[in-house]
Amino acid sequence: MSIFSASQVVKDVVAKKWRGFKQQRRQLLVVSIAAYLFEMTIFALVGTLIWKSVEHQWTKGRIALILIAVGLPLSLGWAWAVLKLSRKSVASLVGQKETYKAWWNSAPTDYEAAKRNVYGTKDEEDFRKRGLAGDQQSWGAKQLIEVGKLAKEAVVLEIGCGVARIGREIAPYLKEWHGGDISSAMLEFARERTKHLSNVFFHELSGTGLGFAANESFDFIYCTIVFMHLDKEDMYEYIREAFRVLRPGGRAYFDTWNLLNDNMFRHFLQTQQGNRGDSKVRNRNQYSTPQEMLKYVTSVGFRTVGLIEGELIKIICEKPGREPTSDF
Ligand SMILES: C[S@@+](CC[C@H](N)C(=O)[O-])C[C@H]1O[C@@H](n2cnc3c(N)ncnc32)[C@H](O)[C@@H]1O
Repeated sequence: MSIFSASQVVKDVVAKKWRGFKQQRRQLLVVSIAAYLFEMTIFALVGTLIWKSVEHQWTKGRIALILIAVGLPLSLGWAWAVLKLSRKSVASLVGQKETYKAWWNSAPTDYEAAKRNVYGTKDEEDFRKRGLAGDQQSWGAKQLIEVGKLAKEAVVLEIGCGVARIGREIAPYLKEWHGGDISSAMLEFARERTKHLSNVFFHELSGTGLGFAANESFDFIYCTIVFMHLDKEDMYEYIREAFRVLRPGGRAYFDTWNLLNDNMFRHFLQTQQGNRGDSKVRNRNQYSTPQEMLKYVTSVGFRTVGLIEGELIKIICEKPGREPTSDF
């Protein structure tokens, strides 16, 4: 195994879909160190055999020098390659070929990891509290019920529902709650968390729209803490699709990181460094401006009802109602 086969190890790691970036990095390190030790053992054995089969002292000296001359750069090169590779995420190593589905299926290795991926906390009580009431930054079920003007007969869709953090809390106030997500792994946890509710439905998405849904079939659609992980083209596609499947007069809510906010711009500068050129992480953070979001929603036909500009841009929009029918 040569030092360059460390990159093959990375490819194998990806191909086998081992779960969790941290776990993968550890595995890469362990496999590389084991392979290095194996290589060095072979090297030492071969060296000893040659050493013993040679009689002359001066030839032994030359063999020792050759071994050091070859072994030292090999060891340093190996250490350098392993360090470089282990500092990168596997997603960045495979560049843009990694899909949304592959990333979001590999991230939630267990329920706690899924909760951390979704909202940065694994504490169940905190997770549920924020799913219901939101926090300083993002909204929960209560605020969404208010902005969506939701009543008990409402049929609601969340795009990118994760483990149904909000769905579990909002569903009891609705007729139906539907959660769509690209990740079958997230949906598995979501199903488990909501199995006591009879009015929840899940849809595995392809990442390019809401093909499962008929036109004008929902009263309210929301998408929170998702758009900042999507390419702009895909975010726009979901906005356009939300307009299609919303009933006339229904509302939609979207949020994403605000590039014009100073904290978020600093955030952008940090993440920008690791995502230049061709080595982009699939679910990297992405940022938009309020004007940009306004342009997207109005261009598909929405009327804007509210725009909040903090670290998150929160945008509430409405699909215009049908023209009043004439009696004639
Ligand atoms: C940070 S989590 C937020 C989950 C949920 N909205 C919440 O607030 O708890 C992002 C979710 O978006 C989903 N997601 C990522 N890319 C997606 C895509 N292209 N289409 C649909 N869902 C996607 C992920 O699987 C993940 O569950």
